[in-house]
Amino acid sequence: MLFKKFASLTLLAATAFAQAPKGAAFDHIVIIFLENTDYALASTDSYFQALIPQGILLDNYHGLAHPSQPNYIASIGGSTHSVTSDSTYNLSPSYSTIVDLLEAKQLTWKTYQENIPSVCYTGSSSSSLYYRKHNPFVSYGSIYKNSTRCKNVVSATQFTTDVNNGALPNYSFYTPNIKNDGHDTTVAYAGQWLTGFLTPLLSNSNFMKNTLVVVTFDEAEDYSDTTNHVLALLLGDAVNGTANTVDSTYYTHYSLISTVENNWGLGNLNLGDVGQLGNVFNLVASKTGYQNVAVTNPPPLNN
Ligand SMILES: *[C@@H]1O[C@H](CO)[C@@H](O)[C@H](O)[C@H]1NC(C)=O
Ligand SMILES: *[C@@H]1O[C@H](CO)[C@@H](O)[C@H](O)[C@H]1NC(C)=O
Ligand SMILES: *[C@@H]1O[C@H](CO)[C@@H](O)[C@H](O)[C@H]1NC(C)=O
Repeated sequence: MLFKKFASLTLLAATAFAQAPKGAAFDHIVIIFLENTDYALASTDSYFQALIPQGILLDNYHGLAHPSQPNYIASIGGSTHSVTSDSTYNLSPSYSTIVDLLEAKQLTWKTYQENIPSVCYTGSSSSSLYYRKHNPFVSYGSIYKNSTRCKNVVSATQFTTDVNNGALPNYSFYTPNIKNDGHDTTVAYAGQWLTGFLTPLLSNSNFMKNTLVVVTFDEAEDYSDTTNHVLALLLGDAVNGTANTVDSTYYTHYSLISTVENNWGLGNLNLGDVGQLGNVFNLVASKTGYQNVAVTNPPPLNN
């Protein structure tokens, strides 16, 4: 008995030692991607105008490319990896993503994909509302070829189950379907969907567990806007006390990676997540002392 107890205590200590330090600004992050809307249009939509005061508005945030898919690819892997269209790409398993960094620190992750026909579905699209071009996880060989990791590519119905069980992973990437994300509809449709989806969550104690929600758009609709300016909004109880403020630091989708890295001390991918395109959200940088780059002459990001 004594020995058994000692052994389990040792195991406990070893497990605790391997765990990531507590996040500087949040314990959970939920990233929600909407589609194809210029900053000016999103920021004047009535649904978004109602949400903006509840969070931190990032009014100098940018997509990285056109069309949709390279933006999604870059948002988890730090590079577009020469993806230039919405076709099917099967990327080399040698490319790391945020998943590698999270797992190395025992942090949990999942991607929730509305209307995906099955767990780890790698088909290009179904006859329904799911599109592979908006699910970057199944393009990375380091994920889709690994059956353990691929189990984390799940349907959005699992999101409800996980929230109800208080089992939200540390990192969630949520892709609404082709209507809810505004792609086949309008920004007002997406705003209405988002409001209906988020409002109950923002008062759900199973969800609000030091949770940061990031809502953004993959790319601007206007390809002639060289800066690819899109709206991004930080919500959730991790923004308590700083709601209804604006952060005008220059950010891009690479900031989605660097902010997660910096929050938990994960290191980096040494790609777009470092340098001027990978500034860390001030919510985190202000707590860790990370020095962001002042970007006065934004590079063209509309390729
Ligand atoms: C990760 O999520 C779990 C489950 O909610 C939570 O207990 C833990 O504190 C989180 N870990 C970190 C390092 O934030
Ligand atoms: C597959 O995923 C598991 C769990 O996520 C990880 O521990 C393992 O290293 C991965 N295998 C390869 C070959 O990347
Ligand atoms: C944020 O505020 C809510 C409501 O006032 C509270 O329940 C929650 O504990 C706060 N969370 C954090 C992380 O401060």
